[in-house]
Amino acid sequence: MVAKIESLKNIPIFSSLSEMHLEELSKIMLEKTYRKNQVIFDQGDPGNSLIVIKSGLVKISLVDSNNHEFIIKTFSVNDFFGEMSLLDGGSRSATATAVEDTQALIIFRENFISLIQKTPSMTLGMLTELSSRLRTTTENISNLTFFDAYGKVARCLLDLAEQIGEKEEDGVAIQLTLSRQELANMSGLSRETFARILKEFQVRGCLRVQGKKIVILNEKVMRREIVI
Ligand code: CMP
Repeated sequence: MVAKIESLKNIPIFSSLSEMHLEELSKIMLEKTYRKNQVIFDQGDPGNSLIVIKSGLVKISLVDSNNHEFIIKTFSVNDFFGEMSLLDGGSRSATATAVEDTQALIIFRENFISLIQKTPSMTLGMLTELSSRLRTTTENISNLTFFDAYGKVARCLLDLAEQIGEKEEDGVAIQLTLSRQELANMSGLSRETFARILKEFQVRGCLRVQGKKIVILNEKVMRREIVI
């Protein structure tokens, strides 16, 4: 129990909770493991739970009737998702899929609503996070509308570097579990165009591709592609 409470403290949305609320939370949260490529829920499903990632990676995507996918966002360790349908009572706004084996904590609607009513600090933390996500969505609309293919690839890689990048001697390394097709689906480009631009960035010395790893070598030059 103590270990469970300690691990909940590391999760930003719960970090402001008192020991008493953390203990309460640790009793009502369910642990679940999802296998790589397992769908956690589909767009349109009724939403009755909030999910927090303990380990792994999840993509949030929209899929059309021809199976074309657009990846809105990826979430990793300590991130939460599934809050929208809990809060507005609507259906799931997008599909969530485990990109790698993922361990998750699940909290159901009634418990979640009762917790946010008792804990204004947590509610404020959540509102801050939701504002930040809305800001990112606005930026993404701008990227998809105004950027050319170079800008779209640069934005996608710089965002991933910020989210999961690790510093190396000559740059920032992104260890990819996402496929090239998924990277293209995040950028709003075809796989062929994404691959061509990636190669061009490599030739220009902006990045290095090593199997599943991409190392951003010259962030400054890549950032020039995303100035509107
Ligand atoms: P929900 O609608 O319950 O299920 C899909 C989830 O994806 C949603 O809750 C959010 O957690 C997440 N989501 C949907 N759209 C966005 C977005 N634009 N930015 C970040 N997360 C989103």
